[in-house]
Amino acid sequence: MVLQEHPAHSLGERAEPRGARGPRQRPGQQVRGVGGAPTAPPPQGWPGERLYAGCKYIDQIELIAVDLAKRLFRAEFADVRPIAGVTANLSVYTAFTEPGDVMLSLSIPNGGHITYGPKRVGGTAGSVRGLDVEYLPFDVNAMNVDVDGTKRKVERLASEGRKPRMVVFGGSLFLFPHPVRELADYLKSMEITVAYDGAHVMGLIAGGEFQDPLREGADVLMGSTHKTLPGPQGGVILSWERYSDRIKRAVFPSNVSNHHLHHVAGKAIVFAEMLAFGRDYASQIVRNARRLAEELAARGFKVLGEPMGYTRSHQVVLDVTRNGGGLAVEKRLEESNIIVNRNLLPYDPKEGRSYRDPGGIRIGVQEVTRLGMAEGEMVEIAEFIYRAVLKGEPPERVAADVAEFRKGFNRVKYAFDSAIDAYEYIGLRRQPELGAAPGP
Ligand SMILES: Cc1ncc(COP(=O)(O)O)c(C=O)c1O
Repeated sequence: MVLQEHPAHSLGERAEPRGARGPRQRPGQQVRGVGGAPTAPPPQGWPGERLYAGCKYIDQIELIAVDLAKRLFRAEFADVRPIAGVTANLSVYTAFTEPGDVMLSLSIPNGGHITYGPKRVGGTAGSVRGLDVEYLPFDVNAMNVDVDGTKRKVERLASEGRKPRMVVFGGSLFLFPHPVRELADYLKSMEITVAYDGAHVMGLIAGGEFQDPLREGADVLMGSTHKTLPGPQGGVILSWERYSDRIKRAVFPSNVSNHHLHHVAGKAIVFAEMLAFGRDYASQIVRNARRLAEELAARGFKVLGEPMGYTRSHQVVLDVTRNGGGLAVEKRLEESNIIVNRNLLPYDPKEGRSYRDPGGIRIGVQEVTRLGMAEGEMVEIAEFIYRAVLKGEPPERVAADVAEFRKGFNRVKYAFDSAIDAYEYIGLRRQPELGAAPGP
Protein backbone atom coordinates (compact mmCIF):
# COMPACT_ATOMS: atom_id res chain seq x y z
CA MET A 1 0.00 0.00 0.00
CA VAL A 2 1.23 3.45 -0.89
CA LEU A 3 -0.35 6.61 0.43
CA GLN A 4 -0.01 9.42 -2.04
CA GLU A 5 0.72 12.99 -1.14
CA HIS A 6 -0.93 14.99 -3.88
CA PRO A 7 -4.07 16.68 -2.66
CA ALA A 8 -6.07 16.20 -5.84
CA HIS A 9 -5.71 14.27 -9.04
CA SER A 10 -5.39 16.12 -12.30
CA LEU A 11 -3.65 14.94 -15.40
CA GLY A 12 -1.59 18.10 -15.66
CA GLU A 13 -0.07 17.67 -12.25
CA ARG A 14 3.13 15.77 -11.91
CA ALA A 15 3.86 14.06 -8.64
CA GLU A 16 7.29 14.72 -7.23
CA PRO A 17 9.57 11.73 -7.41
CA ARG A 18 9.55 9.58 -4.30
CA GLY A 19 11.99 10.68 -1.72
CA ALA A 20 12.43 14.13 -3.25
CA ARG A 21 10.55 15.94 -0.54
CA GLY A 22 11.92 14.54 2.65
CA PRO A 23 14.27 16.60 4.77
CA ARG A 24 17.10 14.62 3.22
CA GLN A 25 17.57 11.33 1.53
CA ARG A 26 19.19 8.46 3.31
CA PRO A 27 21.98 6.44 1.76
CA GLY A 28 19.81 3.48 0.91
CA GLN A 29 17.61 5.78 -1.12
CA GLN A 30 20.58 7.35 -2.86
CA VAL A 31 22.28 4.10 -3.76
CA ARG A 32 19.01 2.44 -4.65
CA GLY A 33 18.44 5.22 -7.16
CA VAL A 34 20.10 4.04 -10.32
CA GLY A 35 21.96 7.25 -11.18
CA GLY A 36 25.51 7.67 -10.00
CA ALA A 37 26.04 4.02 -9.16
CA PRO A 38 29.10 2.34 -10.60
CA THR A 39 29.20 1.39 -14.21
CA ALA A 40 31.78 -0.94 -15.68
CA PRO A 41 32.32 -3.13 -18.72
CA PRO A 42 29.83 -5.94 -19.17
CA PRO A 43 30.29 -8.11 -16.09
CA GLN A 44 29.29 -11.51 -17.52
CA GLY A 45 30.18 -14.29 -15.11
CA TRP A 46 31.11 -14.56 -11.45
CA PRO A 47 33.40 -12.09 -9.66
CA GLY A 48 37.00 -13.04 -10.39
CA GLU A 49 35.93 -15.17 -13.34
CA ARG A 50 34.44 -12.51 -15.65
CA LEU A 51 34.52 -12.73 -19.38
CA TYR A 52 35.67 -9.10 -19.69
CA ALA A 53 38.47 -7.00 -18.26
CA GLY A 54 37.84 -3.93 -16.15
CA CYS A 55 35.69 -5.53 -13.48
CA LYS A 56 38.10 -5.10 -10.58
CA TYR A 57 35.91 -2.71 -8.60
CA ILE A 58 32.54 -4.16 -9.41
CA ASP A 59 33.94 -7.55 -8.42
CA GLN A 60 34.73 -6.20 -4.99
CA ILE A 61 31.31 -4.59 -4.62
CA GLU A 62 29.58 -7.75 -5.75
CA LEU A 63 31.55 -9.92 -3.33
CA ILE A 64 30.58 -7.57 -0.51
CA ALA A 65 26.92 -7.87 -1.56
CA VAL A 66 27.23 -11.67 -1.69
CA ASP A 67 28.84 -11.77 1.73
CA LEU A 68 26.16 -9.55 3.27
CA ALA A 69 23.37 -11.64 1.69
CA LYS A 70 24.93 -14.80 3.11
CA ARG A 71 25.12 -13.27 6.57
CA LEU A 72 21.59 -11.89 6.43
CA PHE A 73 19.95 -15.14 5.38
CA ARG A 74 22.48 -17.43 7.09
CA ALA A 75 23.11 -19.11 3.76
CA GLU A 76 26.26 -20.84 2.54
CA PHE A 77 25.80 -19.47 -0.95
CA ALA A 78 24.25 -16.30 -2.41
CA ASP A 79 23.88 -15.08 -5.96
CA VAL A 80 22.94 -11.41 -6.32
CA ARG A 81 22.94 -11.32 -10.12
CA PRO A 82 19.31 -12.21 -10.97
CA ILE A 83 17.77 -9.00 -12.26
CA ALA A 84 14.28 -9.78 -10.95
CA GLY A 85 12.36 -12.29 -8.90
CA VAL A 86 11.24 -13.83 -12.18
CA THR A 87 14.86 -14.34 -13.21
CA ALA A 88 15.67 -15.85 -9.82
CA ASN A 89 12.78 -18.33 -10.17
CA LEU A 90 13.73 -19.23 -13.71
CA SER A 91 17.35 -19.74 -12.69
CA VAL A 92 16.23 -22.09 -9.91
CA TYR A 93 14.07 -24.04 -12.38
CA THR A 94 17.09 -24.25 -14.66
CA ALA A 95 19.40 -25.40 -11.87
CA PHE A 96 17.14 -28.08 -10.39
CA THR A 97 14.87 -29.36 -13.17
CA GLU A 98 14.84 -30.52 -16.79
CA PRO A 99 12.13 -29.68 -19.33
CA GLY A 100 9.27 -32.15 -18.94
CA ASP A 101 9.76 -32.56 -15.18
CA VAL A 102 6.77 -32.27 -12.91
CA MET A 103 6.73 -29.30 -10.54
CA LEU A 104 4.28 -28.71 -7.70
CA SER A 105 3.35 -25.15 -6.75
CA LEU A 106 0.34 -23.04 -5.77
CA SER A 107 -2.22 -22.07 -8.38
CA ILE A 108 -2.69 -18.35 -8.92
CA PRO A 109 -6.08 -18.08 -7.12
CA ASN A 110 -4.54 -19.85 -4.13
CA GLY A 111 -1.71 -17.34 -4.03
CA GLY A 112 0.74 -18.65 -6.63
CA HIS A 113 2.64 -16.38 -9.00
CA ILE A 114 2.58 -16.49 -12.78
CA THR A 115 6.19 -17.73 -12.72
CA TYR A 116 4.87 -21.04 -11.34
CA GLY A 117 2.21 -21.41 -14.00
CA PRO A 118 1.77 -24.05 -16.67
CA LYS A 119 2.09 -23.31 -20.36
CA ARG A 120 -1.66 -23.04 -20.92
CA VAL A 121 -1.79 -19.88 -18.78
CA GLY A 122 1.51 -18.48 -20.10
CA GLY A 123 3.31 -19.28 -16.85
CA THR A 124 7.11 -19.09 -16.80
CA ALA A 125 7.56 -22.65 -15.50
CA GLY A 126 5.54 -24.14 -18.34
CA SER A 127 6.19 -21.74 -21.19
CA VAL A 128 9.87 -21.06 -20.63
CA ARG A 129 11.31 -24.07 -18.79
CA GLY A 130 8.84 -26.58 -20.23
CA LEU A 131 7.81 -27.89 -16.82
CA ASP A 132 4.71 -29.97 -16.28
CA VAL A 133 2.99 -28.01 -13.52
CA GLU A 134 0.71 -29.60 -10.94
CA TYR A 135 -0.91 -27.60 -8.16
CA LEU A 136 -0.28 -27.97 -4.46
CA PRO A 137 -3.46 -28.88 -2.58
CA PHE A 138 -4.66 -25.83 -0.64
CA ASP A 139 -6.81 -25.55 2.47
CA VAL A 140 -8.89 -22.40 2.00
CA ASN A 141 -9.97 -22.23 5.65
CA ALA A 142 -6.38 -22.34 6.84
CA MET A 143 -5.25 -20.25 3.82
CA ASN A 144 -2.31 -22.61 3.55
CA VAL A 145 -0.81 -25.58 1.75
CA ASP A 146 -2.52 -28.83 2.77
CA VAL A 147 0.19 -31.10 4.22
CA ASP A 148 -1.59 -34.46 4.00
CA GLY A 149 -3.13 -33.57 0.65
CA THR A 150 0.35 -32.78 -0.68
CA LYS A 151 1.69 -36.15 0.40
CA ARG A 152 -1.27 -37.89 -1.17
CA LYS A 153 -0.79 -35.97 -4.39
CA VAL A 154 2.92 -36.79 -4.55
CA GLU A 155 2.11 -40.51 -4.00
CA ARG A 156 -0.52 -40.43 -6.71
CA LEU A 157 1.72 -38.67 -9.21
CA ALA A 158 4.55 -41.10 -8.39
CA SER A 159 2.26 -44.08 -8.93
CA GLU A 160 1.39 -42.63 -12.36
CA GLY A 161 5.09 -42.33 -13.24
CA ARG A 162 5.04 -38.54 -12.80
CA LYS A 163 6.90 -38.08 -9.54
CA PRO A 164 7.56 -34.34 -9.04
CA ARG A 165 11.14 -33.17 -9.37
CA MET A 166 10.58 -29.99 -7.40
CA VAL A 167 8.09 -28.38 -5.02
CA VAL A 168 7.96 -24.59 -4.86
CA PHE A 169 6.59 -23.09 -1.66
CA GLY A 170 5.75 -19.39 -1.44
CA GLY A 171 3.41 -17.11 -3.29
CA SER A 172 2.06 -13.67 -3.96
CA LEU A 173 -0.92 -13.91 -1.64
CA PHE A 174 0.91 -15.04 1.43
CA LEU A 175 -0.67 -14.63 4.85
CA PHE A 176 0.76 -17.55 6.84
CA PRO A 177 4.07 -19.44 6.84
CA HIS A 178 4.04 -22.45 4.56
CA PRO A 179 4.57 -25.96 6.00
CA VAL A 180 8.16 -26.38 4.85
CA ARG A 181 9.24 -28.02 8.10
CA GLU A 182 6.28 -30.41 7.96
CA LEU A 183 6.99 -31.51 4.40
CA ALA A 184 10.73 -31.13 3.77
CA ASP A 185 11.87 -34.51 5.14
CA TYR A 186 9.12 -36.34 3.32
CA LEU A 187 9.85 -34.56 0.03
CA LYS A 188 13.57 -35.18 0.33
CA SER A 189 12.95 -38.85 1.03
CA MET A 190 11.26 -38.83 -2.37
CA GLU A 191 14.26 -36.99 -3.91
CA ILE A 192 12.18 -33.91 -4.57
CA THR A 193 13.93 -30.52 -4.45
CA VAL A 194 12.41 -28.10 -1.96
CA ALA A 195 12.40 -24.53 -3.27
CA TYR A 196 10.91 -21.52 -1.52
CA ASP A 197 9.94 -18.37 -3.37
CA GLY A 198 10.16 -15.65 -0.74
CA ALA A 199 9.66 -12.77 -3.21
CA HIS A 200 7.18 -11.00 -0.95
CA VAL A 201 8.44 -12.06 2.45
CA MET A 202 12.24 -11.81 2.06
CA GLY A 203 12.38 -8.86 4.46
CA LEU A 204 10.35 -10.73 7.06
CA ILE A 205 12.59 -13.78 6.73
CA ALA A 206 15.66 -11.54 7.00
CA GLY A 207 14.21 -9.88 10.09
CA GLY A 208 13.51 -13.19 11.84
CA GLU A 209 9.72 -13.00 11.47
CA PHE A 210 7.46 -15.35 9.53
CA GLN A 211 9.63 -18.46 8.88
CA ASP A 212 13.20 -19.46 8.06
CA PRO A 213 12.98 -21.70 4.97
CA LEU A 214 16.65 -22.72 4.82
CA ARG A 215 16.61 -23.93 8.45
CA GLU A 216 13.26 -25.66 7.88
CA GLY A 217 14.66 -27.80 5.11
CA ALA A 218 14.52 -25.77 1.88
CA ASP A 219 17.26 -26.49 -0.63
CA VAL A 220 17.00 -23.05 -2.13
CA LEU A 221 15.39 -19.71 -1.28
CA MET A 222 14.84 -17.19 -4.04
CA GLY A 223 13.10 -13.84 -4.14
CA SER A 224 12.85 -10.20 -5.05
CA THR A 225 14.92 -7.48 -3.42
CA HIS A 226 12.18 -4.84 -3.58
CA LYS A 227 9.14 -5.99 -1.66
CA THR A 228 9.48 -6.44 2.10
CA LEU A 229 13.20 -6.34 1.43
CA PRO A 230 13.29 -2.59 0.75
CA GLY A 231 16.00 -2.51 -1.90
CA PRO A 232 16.37 -1.84 -5.61
CA GLN A 233 14.33 -3.89 -8.04
CA GLY A 234 16.04 -7.20 -8.53
CA GLY A 235 16.38 -10.76 -7.40
CA VAL A 236 18.57 -12.91 -5.20
CA ILE A 237 19.12 -16.64 -4.68
CA LEU A 238 20.29 -18.19 -1.38
CA SER A 239 21.29 -21.78 -0.97
CA TRP A 240 23.83 -24.30 0.27
CA GLU A 241 27.41 -24.68 -0.94
CA ARG A 242 26.64 -28.08 -2.50
CA TYR A 243 24.31 -26.40 -5.00
CA SER A 244 26.48 -23.35 -5.71
CA ASP A 245 27.96 -24.47 -9.03
CA ARG A 246 24.69 -25.44 -10.62
CA ILE A 247 23.00 -22.21 -9.47
CA LYS A 248 25.88 -20.06 -10.74
CA ARG A 249 25.69 -21.75 -14.14
CA ALA A 250 21.91 -21.44 -14.24
CA VAL A 251 22.15 -17.70 -13.63
CA PHE A 252 24.96 -17.11 -16.12
CA PRO A 253 25.02 -18.11 -18.94
CA SER A 254 21.48 -19.48 -18.86
CA ASN A 255 19.30 -16.63 -17.61
CA VAL A 256 21.37 -13.49 -17.12
CA SER A 257 24.02 -12.13 -19.43
CA ASN A 258 25.12 -8.78 -18.04
CA HIS A 259 23.46 -8.29 -14.72
CA HIS A 260 22.46 -4.82 -13.58
CA LEU A 261 25.56 -3.44 -11.94
CA HIS A 262 23.94 -0.28 -10.72
CA HIS A 263 21.66 -2.44 -8.56
CA VAL A 264 24.42 -4.51 -6.99
CA ALA A 265 25.57 -1.71 -4.68
CA GLY A 266 21.95 -1.01 -3.78
CA LYS A 267 21.48 -4.66 -2.88
CA ALA A 268 24.57 -4.52 -0.67
CA ILE A 269 23.16 -1.49 1.15
CA VAL A 270 19.77 -3.07 1.69
CA PHE A 271 21.31 -6.29 3.02
CA ALA A 272 23.39 -4.20 5.42
CA GLU A 273 20.36 -2.15 6.42
CA MET A 274 18.42 -5.30 7.14
CA LEU A 275 21.30 -6.71 9.19
CA ALA A 276 21.31 -3.50 11.21
CA PHE A 277 17.59 -2.67 11.42
CA GLY A 278 15.74 -5.65 9.95
CA ARG A 279 14.49 -7.14 13.21
CA ASP A 280 12.76 -3.92 14.25
CA TYR A 281 11.43 -3.27 10.75
CA ALA A 282 10.05 -6.78 10.23
CA SER A 283 8.46 -6.97 13.65
CA GLN A 284 6.76 -3.58 13.17
CA ILE A 285 5.51 -4.67 9.73
CA VAL A 286 3.90 -7.78 11.16
CA ARG A 287 2.33 -5.88 14.08
CA ASN A 288 1.03 -3.22 11.68
CA ALA A 289 -0.53 -5.78 9.34
CA ARG A 290 -2.27 -7.53 12.22
CA ARG A 291 -3.59 -4.24 13.60
CA LEU A 292 -4.78 -2.99 10.22
CA ALA A 293 -6.63 -6.27 9.67
CA GLU A 294 -8.32 -6.03 13.08
CA GLU A 295 -9.34 -2.41 12.51
CA LEU A 296 -10.74 -3.15 9.06
CA ALA A 297 -12.68 -6.13 10.40
CA ALA A 298 -14.05 -3.98 13.24
CA ARG A 299 -15.32 -1.50 10.65
CA GLY A 300 -17.26 -4.16 8.74
CA PHE A 301 -14.81 -5.46 6.15
CA LYS A 302 -14.56 -9.17 5.49
CA VAL A 303 -10.90 -9.90 6.22
CA LEU A 304 -9.49 -13.29 5.26
CA GLY A 305 -7.68 -15.52 7.74
CA GLU A 306 -9.78 -14.53 10.75
CA PRO A 307 -9.53 -17.85 12.66
CA MET A 308 -5.73 -17.64 12.53
CA GLY A 309 -5.60 -13.96 13.55
CA TYR A 310 -5.91 -12.61 9.98
CA THR A 311 -2.22 -12.55 9.06
CA ARG A 312 1.33 -13.31 10.12
CA SER A 313 2.93 -11.51 7.18
CA HIS A 314 2.88 -7.96 5.84
CA GLN A 315 -0.33 -8.60 3.94
CA VAL A 316 -3.98 -8.06 4.71
CA VAL A 317 -6.50 -9.58 2.31
CA LEU A 318 -10.08 -8.36 2.00
CA ASP A 319 -12.98 -10.12 0.35
CA VAL A 320 -14.81 -7.20 -1.29
CA THR A 321 -17.30 -9.21 -3.32
CA ARG A 322 -20.17 -7.53 -1.47
CA ASN A 323 -18.56 -4.07 -1.76
CA GLY A 324 -18.50 -3.79 -5.55
CA GLY A 325 -15.61 -6.17 -6.32
CA GLY A 326 -11.85 -5.80 -6.50
CA LEU A 327 -11.67 -3.59 -9.57
CA ALA A 328 -14.13 -0.99 -8.28
CA VAL A 329 -12.64 -0.93 -4.78
CA GLU A 330 -9.09 -0.63 -6.13
CA LYS A 331 -10.17 2.34 -8.27
CA ARG A 332 -12.10 3.99 -5.46
CA LEU A 333 -9.07 3.73 -3.19
CA GLU A 334 -6.74 5.03 -5.90
CA GLU A 335 -8.97 8.09 -6.25
CA SER A 336 -8.63 8.45 -2.49
CA ASN A 337 -4.79 8.49 -2.71
CA ILE A 338 -4.51 4.92 -1.38
CA ILE A 339 -2.76 2.54 -3.74
CA VAL A 340 -3.52 -1.14 -3.15
CA ASN A 341 -4.16 -3.92 -5.60
CA ARG A 342 -7.00 -6.15 -6.56
CA ASN A 343 -6.33 -9.83 -6.16
CA LEU A 344 -7.85 -13.16 -7.01
CA LEU A 345 -9.22 -15.07 -4.03
CA PRO A 346 -9.05 -18.88 -3.83
CA TYR A 347 -12.79 -19.27 -4.51
CA ASP A 348 -13.03 -16.64 -7.29
CA PRO A 349 -12.79 -18.97 -10.31
CA LYS A 350 -15.55 -21.23 -8.93
CA GLU A 351 -17.77 -18.19 -8.46
CA GLY A 352 -17.07 -16.95 -11.99
CA ARG A 353 -14.65 -14.12 -11.22
CA SER A 354 -11.35 -13.61 -13.05
CA TYR A 355 -8.20 -11.60 -12.43
CA ARG A 356 -9.70 -8.63 -14.31
CA ASP A 357 -12.32 -8.08 -11.62
CA PRO A 358 -11.48 -10.42 -8.78
CA GLY A 359 -13.11 -10.63 -5.38
CA GLY A 360 -10.16 -9.51 -3.31
CA ILE A 361 -7.99 -6.57 -2.31
CA ARG A 362 -4.45 -7.17 -1.10
CA ILE A 363 -2.83 -4.59 1.14
CA GLY A 364 0.86 -4.68 2.09
CA VAL A 365 2.01 -2.48 4.98
CA GLN A 366 5.76 -2.55 4.38
CA GLU A 367 5.91 0.84 2.61
CA VAL A 368 4.00 2.78 5.24
CA THR A 369 5.93 1.01 7.99
CA ARG A 370 9.20 2.10 6.43
CA LEU A 371 7.96 5.66 6.61
CA GLY A 372 7.66 5.27 10.37
CA MET A 373 3.99 4.39 10.74
CA ALA A 374 3.02 2.13 13.63
CA GLU A 375 -0.16 0.66 15.10
CA GLY A 376 -1.76 4.07 15.78
CA GLU A 377 -1.45 5.01 12.11
CA MET A 378 -3.01 1.69 11.08
CA VAL A 379 -6.18 2.79 12.89
CA GLU A 380 -6.19 5.99 10.85
CA ILE A 381 -5.57 4.13 7.59
CA ALA A 382 -8.39 1.69 8.34
CA GLU A 383 -10.65 4.69 8.87
CA PHE A 384 -9.62 6.21 5.51
CA ILE A 385 -10.35 2.90 3.77
CA TYR A 386 -13.68 2.64 5.57
CA ARG A 387 -14.66 6.20 4.60
CA ALA A 388 -13.74 5.61 0.94
CA VAL A 389 -15.25 2.17 0.47
CA LEU A 390 -18.00 1.46 2.99
CA LYS A 391 -19.16 4.92 4.00
CA GLY A 392 -19.00 6.13 0.40
CA GLU A 393 -17.52 9.57 1.08
CA PRO A 394 -16.43 11.50 -2.02
CA PRO A 395 -12.94 10.23 -2.89
CA GLU A 396 -11.57 13.80 -3.27
CA ARG A 397 -12.39 14.45 0.37
CA VAL A 398 -10.66 11.29 1.56
CA ALA A 399 -7.74 11.96 -0.83
CA ALA A 400 -7.18 15.40 0.69
CA ASP A 401 -7.14 13.97 4.21
CA VAL A 402 -4.79 11.14 3.16
CA ALA A 403 -2.42 13.69 1.59
CA GLU A 404 -2.44 15.76 4.78
CA PHE A 405 -1.84 12.67 6.92
CA ARG A 406 0.95 11.46 4.63
CA LYS A 407 2.80 14.78 4.94
CA GLY A 408 3.86 13.81 8.44
CA PHE A 409 5.79 10.78 7.21
CA ASN A 410 8.57 11.77 4.87
CA ARG A 411 11.55 10.24 6.51
CA VAL A 412 12.66 6.71 5.76
CA LYS A 413 13.02 4.71 8.95
CA TYR A 414 15.06 1.53 9.58
CA ALA A 415 17.85 2.93 7.39
CA PHE A 416 21.33 4.35 7.92
CA ASP A 417 21.37 8.06 8.67
CA SER A 418 24.23 8.86 6.34
CA ALA A 419 26.37 7.34 3.63
CA ILE A 420 29.22 7.25 6.11
CA ASP A 421 27.20 5.10 8.52
CA ALA A 422 26.38 2.72 5.70
CA TYR A 423 29.95 2.47 4.45
CA GLU A 424 31.26 2.01 7.98
CA TYR A 425 28.79 -0.79 8.59
CA ILE A 426 29.81 -2.55 5.40
CA GLY A 427 33.49 -1.96 6.15
CA LEU A 428 34.13 0.01 2.97
CA ARG A 429 35.95 2.74 4.84
CA ARG A 430 38.64 0.27 5.63
CA GLN A 431 39.16 -0.33 1.90
CA PRO A 432 40.38 2.99 0.48
CA GLU A 433 41.01 1.50 -2.97
CA LEU A 434 37.22 1.35 -3.37
CA GLY A 435 36.96 5.13 -3.27
CA ALA A 436 35.46 5.04 0.18
CA ALA A 437 33.49 7.88 1.64
CA PRO A 438 35.48 10.76 3.10
CA GLY A 439 35.71 10.91 6.87
CA PRO A 440 33.06 12.71 8.86
C1 LIG B 1 5.63 -14.84 -5.44
C2 LIG B 1 6.32 -14.03 -6.48
N1 LIG B 1 7.42 -14.50 -7.06
C3 LIG B 1 8.08 -13.81 -8.00
C4 LIG B 1 7.65 -12.58 -8.39
C5 LIG B 1 8.40 -11.85 -9.44
O1 LIG B 1 9.13 -10.85 -8.87
P1 LIG B 1 9.79 -9.63 -9.69
O2 LIG B 1 8.77 -8.56 -9.70
O3 LIG B 1 10.98 -9.30 -8.84
O4 LIG B 1 10.17 -10.15 -11.02
C6 LIG B 1 6.52 -12.01 -7.80
C7 LIG B 1 6.07 -10.67 -8.20
O5 LIG B 1 5.30 -10.02 -7.62
C8 LIG B 1 5.83 -12.76 -6.83
O6 LIG B 1 4.71 -12.30 -6.26
